[in-house]
Amino acid sequence: MTEKPKYYITTPIYYPSAKLHIGHTYCTSIADSMARFKRLDGYEVMFLTGSDEHGQKIEQKAEESGVTPIEYVDNIVALFKQLWKELNISNDDFIRTTEERHREVVQMLFQRAYDNGDIYLGKYEGWYCIPDETFWPENKLTPEHLCPDCGRPLQRISEEAYFFKMSKYADRWMKFIEENPDFIQPASRRNEMIQFVKGGLEDLCVSRTSFTWGIPVPFDPKHVVYVWFDALVNYITAAGIIDNPEKFKRFWPADVHLVGKEIVRFHSIIWPIMLMSLGIELPKKIYGHGWLIVDGEKMSKSKGNVVDPIPLLQEFGSDAIRYLLNDIQLGQDGNFSRERLINRINSDLSNDLGNLLHRSLSMVEKYRNGVLVHGDASVDPCIGEVSSEVEKNAEATLQRFRNGMDNWKINDALKAVWIFIRSLNKYIDVTMPWVLAKDEAKRAALDAVLYHLCEGMRFVSLMVEPVIPIAAEKIWAQLGLVDFEKANYKNLVWGGIADGTKVAKGMPIFPRIEVEKE
Ligand code: ME8
Ligand code: MG
Repeated sequence: MTEKPKYYITTPIYYPSAKLHIGHTYCTSIADSMARFKRLDGYEVMFLTGSDEHGQKIEQKAEESGVTPIEYVDNIVALFKQLWKELNISNDDFIRTTEERHREVVQMLFQRAYDNGDIYLGKYEGWYCIPDETFWPENKLTPEHLCPDCGRPLQRISEEAYFFKMSKYADRWMKFIEENPDFIQPASRRNEMIQFVKGGLEDLCVSRTSFTWGIPVPFDPKHVVYVWFDALVNYITAAGIIDNPEKFKRFWPADVHLVGKEIVRFHSIIWPIMLMSLGIELPKKIYGHGWLIVDGEKMSKSKGNVVDPIPLLQEFGSDAIRYLLNDIQLGQDGNFSRERLINRINSDLSNDLGNLLHRSLSMVEKYRNGVLVHGDASVDPCIGEVSSEVEKNAEATLQRFRNGMDNWKINDALKAVWIFIRSLNKYIDVTMPWVLAKDEAKRAALDAVLYHLCEGMRFVSLMVEPVIPIAAEKIWAQLGLVDFEKANYKNLVWGGIADGTKVAKGMPIFPRIEVEKE
């Protein structure tokens, strides 16, 4: 038996400082689509998400709420997990940085870097952005002393701290980036990072002493480990660096860390240098996705335009939300609006996809008592020709779809599938099964048309599974097929529906949203 190739994909671990919004939902949906795609494409997948629970921001939030930090994060992390369940996220693990397995790894690595001589004691004098958990030296600041990244007010700090010798690794980093031009994606982000390092890499402050909510520095427990040094390590904790060496050998290095563009710097500069210092292999790719913009504006609490995904999920279902979020060019900012959501549900999901299934299965029931057979399209030359087009298109679409997904062009991959779906609707209009049904001599041609429609939808079902998994499984079941979980792209070849398969038409999979009600 040949071993499957592996694929290890991660999302950022989000701060449980507040409940998650549609922006976090965006990142996790994309990662889930990739994970599901890779599983169907024959990989053994490890898909990780989690929560980043330490640090000054969380400690302050807990204090404001009058609870202990752990009580505070326990409540919010429960909401994360509920959200991912409702969104049908297929993560294989969920890591919390407050777990024992993680503390052990962070302390071991901090100790190792110290023993290597890459961590030394000093004093931090400068500014700190608490919401971003970021240090800002004086020379990077705006005159008003606002955070250069997020524009929020900074806090002045002056405390004893351990420093990590980032500067020592600047040349090695630059060499690595030159030798691995695809490490940072998209290319625009890569150029930004190169500029950043060329501007001079300073040693990084990696401990704090003015609060206690963190992992104690093993050899000096009045310090807690800086929250980013702690958080980044999650990716190797969960891969099993201490508690499961076999698994670690199998899955590390990660194939991709998918993160928002504002934290590409931490993932593509700090994290690789930490790993260089520790003598651990680097991840293969950092992909920086764009931001989700709501009705044309960046979401923020002060603007009051933060979109809560839970009521949307309850109103429209997870597939519709996932479809909309995946239909954005990754790497660029994308817009989210209720209007756009309803439009896409009605046009793409309900009209194109849902109607195709319903119309086709209604005809199989009406003309053939629900039973599919291959038939013979060649009894009518015209039908023979358009039918062989459908076969060719199905296989070409699968290729285009797989290419798109492999290149992180999820929206292009979906576009290819929808072109195929629309072509199947057109195939009904052209072949006019209701006319064929009146002519006993065309019996085999009618069988072939119905078969082509259903076989085409079998292809569609597996191609849409990564993005709209609930609908995919419903399509499969309504086609009368079984063993959905055993299907994959390698065994998806034309002609797979067996003669005698009985379809099981159900309710429309995407009911239209009445816009008048809005
Ligand atoms: O940065 N559009 O956590 P965080 C798209 N704990 N994506 C968005 C978004 C938006 N408007 N808002 C947030 C942290 N995101 C650290 C990560 S990893 C070792 C530690 C997504 O809660 C996006 O992926 O601030 C972004 O990078 C992430 O949420 C930040 O989540
Ligand atoms: Mg953030």
